[in-house]
Amino acid sequence: MTRYLVHPGSQLKGRFPVPGDKSISHRAVILGALAEGVTEVEGLLEGADVLATIAAFRTMGVEMQGPDRGHLRIQGVGLYGLRAPGVPLDCGNSGTAMRLLAGVLAGQNFPSTLIGDASLQQRPMGRVLRPLAAMGAEIAAQDGKAPLQIHGRPLHGIDYALPMASAQVKSAILLAGLYAEGQTCVTEPAPTRDHSERMLQGFGYPVERQGPRACLRSGGQLHGQSLQVPGDISSAAFFLLGATIAPGSDLTLEGVGINPTRTGIIEILTRMGARIDLTALRVVGGEPVADIRVRYAQLQGIAIPAHLVPLAIDEFPALFIAAACAKGQTVITGAEELRVKESDRIAVMASGLRAMGVIVEERADGAIINGSLLQGGRINSQGDHRIAMAFAMAALVAQGDIEILDCANVATSFPNFPALAHQAGLLLEVVGA
Ligand code: S3P
Repeated sequence: MTRYLVHPGSQLKGRFPVPGDKSISHRAVILGALAEGVTEVEGLLEGADVLATIAAFRTMGVEMQGPDRGHLRIQGVGLYGLRAPGVPLDCGNSGTAMRLLAGVLAGQNFPSTLIGDASLQQRPMGRVLRPLAAMGAEIAAQDGKAPLQIHGRPLHGIDYALPMASAQVKSAILLAGLYAEGQTCVTEPAPTRDHSERMLQGFGYPVERQGPRACLRSGGQLHGQSLQVPGDISSAAFFLLGATIAPGSDLTLEGVGINPTRTGIIEILTRMGARIDLTALRVVGGEPVADIRVRYAQLQGIAIPAHLVPLAIDEFPALFIAAACAKGQTVITGAEELRVKESDRIAVMASGLRAMGVIVEERADGAIINGSLLQGGRINSQGDHRIAMAFAMAALVAQGDIEILDCANVATSFPNFPALAHQAGLLLEVVGA
């Protein structure tokens, strides 16, 4: 079992890019596969989650060269060119792969099965199965969980109000809508990442967007593209955390995506007193991008406004650590979605912080975290990539070594995290890989 052993007392310095955005990489593979003609992707994240999506489309007859140093060439087969897979499609640890693929596969004229690892099999799929069933899909699951057995069927459009803020569910419905008779509309209760809407338009597919509502009609075509994937702000987040909490740090992260549906981490850390500057603002592959400079700053506890939660949904492991390093109390509310991520992130973060001597009160939809000195200790990441990386950064300011268990899944989103963190100054050793 892969463990991290991290020694305290260093600082983060340097200037480097972070790997490609995971959400955008999945979507580039999916839309490239379903497009007419060739799609060339640069900067693709070569993490295990995205590799699972690539493997699924290869199994359905899509030819791709790569990925090689972030380059993937996809020979699109068109919306109606996928082949029956014949074997189960393994989504590994990836909720995005499973939910978006369910949307694509619901309206195919062949059956398919989606499977995943132990974590993914525990995660709620009813949230995609219900709207897809309302569109006419026939998908069998056990208690709303994977494996999903999909009997491809003709679909019809719906007008769906999402009960929770979820970009995965929104995207699954829009992808199914490509195959559904008439118009498909989704309305979200709060803004979530809009990469699907942007990229569909980038591939020449009309999407009507009005405030919280996005609609599309079947009958169109996707056209192969050349696209550059921006750096993942969710990966940058661990470096924003580390440089903020470790005195003397000064780090610049290059080419990071700053889509406004993703920048909650910058907004929240800044409200807590962080010193974060964006420079070289530009647009890459239809997405806003910047270089982000972050320097050490003493943080202050705050009540995190609930409306910022969906805009920072993957960054809460990092924010729990920031809160533990802040002066005073930080209150997290409206974050019940954290309980159904790769792990129950409220429970796992609370227990990890307690192991470091922090007083944390767990709530159904969040936590109250009291800033304090962090002790050294042993943390079980429960196989959750973002929890492992957040505690690795916590070691920068701990009183003793931090040992983090079950870290292999860091490779799902950030395979070179240990190398990059080490290069920036984190005293991290990978043990037992
Ligand atoms: C994602 C959406 C979010 C996020 C996940 C990636 C996406 O999930 O947590 O890491 O790519 O659409 P939810 O839709 O479950 O909030």
